[in-house]
Amino acid sequence: MIKFLFGLVVGICLLLLAGYLFATRGGISLTTKGAPLPMERSIAHQALAASIGQSSGDQSPLPADDANLLAGARVYQQNACMMCHGQLDQPESDFAKRFYPHAPQLLPPGEGVTDDPVGTTHWVVKNGIRFSAMPSFEGKLTDTEIWQVSLLLRNANKLPNSVQASLRQPQHE
Ligand code: HEC
Repeated sequence: MIKFLFGLVVGICLLLLAGYLFATRGGISLTTKGAPLPMERSIAHQALAASIGQSSGDQSPLPADDANLLAGARVYQQNACMMCHGQLDQPESDFAKRFYPHAPQLLPPGEGVTDDPVGTTHWVVKNGIRFSAMPSFEGKLTDTEIWQVSLLLRNANKLPNSVQASLRQPQHE
């Protein structure tokens, strides 16, 4: 029994060592070009969902009225969201495609996160996403501003004309 356990532990250590050497000696390319690694998408997706956890059920303390959506549009334009996640009525930018994973288009014609609970978007903007270019905005934006931009993105496919007009205007920070 002791011998079996010893063999098992040595076996597991060798496997871990092989994985470590594979990853650290160039077996895993860290460039932003090329296809995902085996299971990379599924693991990343599940790890993110587990990190977000119950926060996806958080409700916005603010209503999705014109004033909050307009404020959300300003946050989107003034904090580089637009640079990575695109402009209204424009296709995904070449810049967005150069990240791995791509920075998804969050305004129409893209579907963006209109299907996601607003609590999920609030969590992502507040905390960022590790191993991607998505920064955390906690401390940079107030919680109110994070909810406002989250409401904007949740309602991106049905924005009032005034908000659409504001998103089309060039911004000066
Ligand atoms: C430097 C580029 C960059 C900036 C600036 C940036 N993001 Fe992101 N963002 C990304 C990338 C890349 C991803 C994709 C991460 C992933 O797929 O794991 C992402 C993901 C997201 C997601 C999740 C999208 C989805 O499909 O689930 C949301 C929501 C989001 N960003 C909102 C914002 C907002 C709001 C801002 C501005 C306050 C912002 N981002 C600024 C690069 C950026």
